[in-house]
Amino acid sequence: MLYPEGVLIDGMTGAVTPETGRYSKRLSGLAGIFQDSSAFERAIFDEADPLVYEVIDYRKPDSDLFFGTTTMQPGKVGVEYYMTRGHFHERRDRGEAYYTQSGVGLLLLESRAGETRSVAMCPGVCAFIPPDWAHRSINTGREKLVFAWFCATDAGHDYGQILQRGMRKLVVEQNGEVAITDNPNFRT
Ligand code: PA5
Ligand code: NI
Repeated sequence: MLYPEGVLIDGMTGAVTPETGRYSKRLSGLAGIFQDSSAFERAIFDEADPLVYEVIDYRKPDSDLFFGTTTMQPGKVGVEYYMTRGHFHERRDRGEAYYTQSGVGLLLLESRAGETRSVAMCPGVCAFIPPDWAHRSINTGREKLVFAWFCATDAGHDYGQILQRGMRKLVVEQNGEVAITDNPNFRT
């Protein structure tokens, strides 16, 4: 039997109370997602394998819904801002919502058919991620980016395609500004 519960989400730190699980990703755990592999190796060495993001969840066995937070550190690898791995959901009929609480970023989306979109992430914006759109979040600011996400427990994460071929667009710093550019290494 499941009982209702109020869960405290701290929009500055990403803390979830009570929490049921967490993991963190350091840069070394994100091999292959950044274009500049020498900048990637250098950052691991020079910055002592920095933390890139942390995911904390509230998930009850047998519930159809779970939620949690992702807290992303600011930083770059070469000209690319810190980003999540990015994924499709295993179940193609499952979407998600991302509610940004602090910091600024971009949510990069790509449909199965190859259409691309982005949604600005800033406090108060709840991004709707339709079913079967790959999604990756990018911290384009100088502060932590904290967002709460809400998803079906059976959605599943399919990382394979994005890891193998990347996404069609990159989010880079260009002349001091945030720019979305074509990924020159993208192959279908
Ligand atoms: O389910 C989601 O979309 C999020 O909880 C992400 O898993 C989280 O932001 C980390 O990103 P990724 O799973 O792409 O590494
Ligand atoms: Ni997702």
